Amino acid sequence: MTTLDYQSGFGNQFASEALPGALPVGHNSPQQAPLGLYAELLSGTAFTAPRDHNRRTWMYRRRPSAMHEAFARIDDGNWRSGPFTEAETPANRLRWNPWPMPAGNADFVDGMLTIAGNGDPHAQTGSAVHVYRANRSMDGRYLVNSDGELLIVPQHGALLLHTELGRLHVAPGEIALVPRGMRFRVALQEGEGEGEARGYVCENYGAPFRLPELGPIGSNGLANARDFLAPMAAFEEDAGPVRIVNKFMGHLWEGTQAGTPLNVVAWHGNLTPCKYDLARFMAIGTISFDHPDPSIYTVLTSGTDTPGVANCDFVIFPPRWLVAEDTFRPPWFHRNVMSELMGLVRGVYDAKAEGFVPGGVSLHNCMLPHGPDAATFERASTAELKPHRLDNTLAFMFESRHVFRPTAQALGAANLQPDYDAVWHGFRAAKA
Ligand SMILES: [Fe+2]
Repeated sequence: MTTLDYQSGFGNQFASEALPGALPVGHNSPQQAPLGLYAELLSGTAFTAPRDHNRRTWMYRRRPSAMHEAFARIDDGNWRSGPFTEAETPANRLRWNPWPMPAGNADFVDGMLTIAGNGDPHAQTGSAVHVYRANRSMDGRYLVNSDGELLIVPQHGALLLHTELGRLHVAPGEIALVPRGMRFRVALQEGEGEGEARGYVCENYGAPFRLPELGPIGSNGLANARDFLAPMAAFEEDAGPVRIVNKFMGHLWEGTQAGTPLNVVAWHGNLTPCKYDLARFMAIGTISFDHPDPSIYTVLTSGTDTPGVANCDFVIFPPRWLVAEDTFRPPWFHRNVMSELMGLVRGVYDAKAEGFVPGGVSLHNCMLPHGPDAATFERASTAELKPHRLDNTLAFMFESRHVFRPTAQALGAANLQPDYDAVWHGFRAAKA
């Protein structure tokens, strides 16, 4: 287990220096920055965004990031991007078994495969959902995503993210956020470069993820800000030329630069990568009867110009107690104006008896009816309603106002389940 120091808080004004005296005091861009470093600003929101939404970080680095060669197009592999117009969007519920690991060597970028998405990076709206499958660390190359921030949800294998602002160790059960525009590389197995890793990624083209408002819940609960961890400044020594992969306007571009882009010696600001342990989520539910909307499980939200209508919400279904009286406890049958793409990190999801397995994906788009399968309905409608701890489970949902449009490769994948609709067969007609 890699032990790293972190700073706690979500979107706080952090400050960190890897060498004493590297961080300027008072001025952001003094005529001569300490230690001969170069001052550089990374803005994650418009300059004039309201103070509460404004995100930016000042970096003090050995070389400016501008010092790189021209980018040239490289193959996109299985990474797809908005607008998702290559395949007609089926009016069907869809479910996939886990994607197999790549046959050959694949790092975090090589093994990225897009399942579905919506919106368009050029319009800074929508998101894409990918799975990553990696069996080697990124070696001598770094990723920067100009199209969106990356919400990484490991499902198998730990990752060590080396970013411009420092390092984050992220294991299954945790998530990481990497801001749009930040250079980073992904190592497996705590940097040893061995083993395998698989997980989900939401590439958010829209407003940066933030904590949801709590309304009547009050000032505590759901994901607490202090449980988000930002890195401490750390930089790499140069070891020769490196490659920078730039995801820009839907495609991958690559350029070289003389040394590592992770050369930030000190920084301050509130636009940072961060990690969060989903076990810290304070789940809230009914203590009387009925089933609140799943919005009570929102960890992070990317808003739109319409209050309460998300570009993308990240929602989890963690282990928790179920105590409702006279209530059908699993998720009920529903249709929803929002579109729901779900994944499973571990265990079993309480609305499905089988078929939705860790590493798999289900997709219930706008107004497509879904809910418990027949086996779950039978079980839950006759279960004795004593307090019950739901254990061995960690499901999540990316929920969007925009319909998730599956990619051609996802619709043609061997792991697409052929008859998902059958899980809702077999309900007896009521005698009424
Ligand atoms: Fe749903």
